[in-house]
Amino acid sequence: MGMCWGNDRSVERDVGEKRVLLIVGGGVAAYKALLLTRLLRKAGVAVRPILTKAGAAFVTPLSLAALAEDKVYEDLFSLTDEHEMGHIELSRSADLVVVAPATADLIAKAAQGLAGDLASTTLLATDKPVLMAPAMNVRMWLHPATQRNIATLEADGVRFVGPEEGAMACGEFGPGRLAEPEAIFAAIMAALEGPAARPLEGKRALVTAGPTFEPIDPVRGITNRSSGKQGFAIAEALAKLGAEVTLIAGPVALPTPPGVRRIDVETARQMLAASQAALPADVGVFVAAVADWRVDEAFGSKLKKEKGGPPALTFVENPDILATLSASGPHRPRLVVGFAAETDHVEEHARAKLARKGCDWIIANDVTEPGVMGGGENAVLLVTKTGTERWDRAAKDRVAAQIAQRIAEALG
Ligand code: CTP
Repeated sequence: MGMCWGNDRSVERDVGEKRVLLIVGGGVAAYKALLLTRLLRKAGVAVRPILTKAGAAFVTPLSLAALAEDKVYEDLFSLTDEHEMGHIELSRSADLVVVAPATADLIAKAAQGLAGDLASTTLLATDKPVLMAPAMNVRMWLHPATQRNIATLEADGVRFVGPEEGAMACGEFGPGRLAEPEAIFAAIMAALEGPAARPLEGKRALVTAGPTFEPIDPVRGITNRSSGKQGFAIAEALAKLGAEVTLIAGPVALPTPPGVRRIDVETARQMLAASQAALPADVGVFVAAVADWRVDEAFGSKLKKEKGGPPALTFVENPDILATLSASGPHRPRLVVGFAAETDHVEEHARAKLARKGCDWIIANDVTEPGVMGGGENAVLLVTKTGTERWDRAAKDRVAAQIAQRIAEALG
């Protein structure tokens, strides 16, 4: 326990501690509010929950209180006890008010300025920014009444995350699904941190990641070893700093980072086409382990063993995506970053690669270091036209955050 809120006069609040007032509305997706609460608490954000009557039909106050490590507020008229704070004070006791899930009913009440219960009263009385994560049936979402209410709230300065498109608990398909807890969490952190934490706001980034797969026949192919972890972490780190990120991913088993637009491809040629289609971009980060060769013509049907020994395959070179985009004239991203996986003479090879590919930076790693290939850590050299920096070995998401920060500085 030990959360320190504005009204808790016994304990001074940690100045750096951020606080969220979380209004949980009704709906099958309300369970995601529990996962969201966990993410926020893990990040050191205090969560004070308000549970609506409808919300309480889906999650229990006890679960919410345990995960939030705070009392759950449910009833407008129980806030009269002198030991309780009043609803006005409650509405202002956080840095941000979050509604997740925001039902059609809550949205309509907020848009109209109704204040018949604790949740709507809080939304009307608060002087803090409000972030809503809508969740409802697709018809309800698309209904002009809801769209009108959303437009009204947007004009009032309310921010929204989601809804996403997908299969719904009611069996229909379309927009209306509550955004994933990770996406709501990212939107909350962005709102809490303010513009200084988002130096890449308004900038477009293109990231390639993972291996490519070049088919030989419908069941066989050649590929490179790459988990995609470093590229995905960079896409996520750039998005966290506010960039609009397109992630072009070869076949990998990784979830899409929150707030990132992902395009899945298989071959080098598809990756090149998707990269070109993602232009213009302010920065291109080419992390993919692109297969250097493909068979000149993939077989349309499966090669059979019995047909007289192994087939003779002719290979042709794949396009170099990094070099092609580095040389794309007026469409060239302002900053082009390549990667190099080396086993020896790391700096020398990286510098040669920088010149050969025409990029601005090469981030080089020594793949003979244990735990780098497929592992969670990376030890890198940043090679630019003017110098070389050796970074300490760190977790791949730490390295990604450092790269994103440097990109933000370079783009000014
Ligand atoms: N790359 C690319 N398209 C290719 C090959 C590589 O975009 N067809 C990019 C990678 O994403 C990486 C960089 O180029 O950013 C370095 O790739 P790498 O395969 O390590 O270098 P090579 O050009 O193959 O050089 P070498 O074989 O000498 O190491």
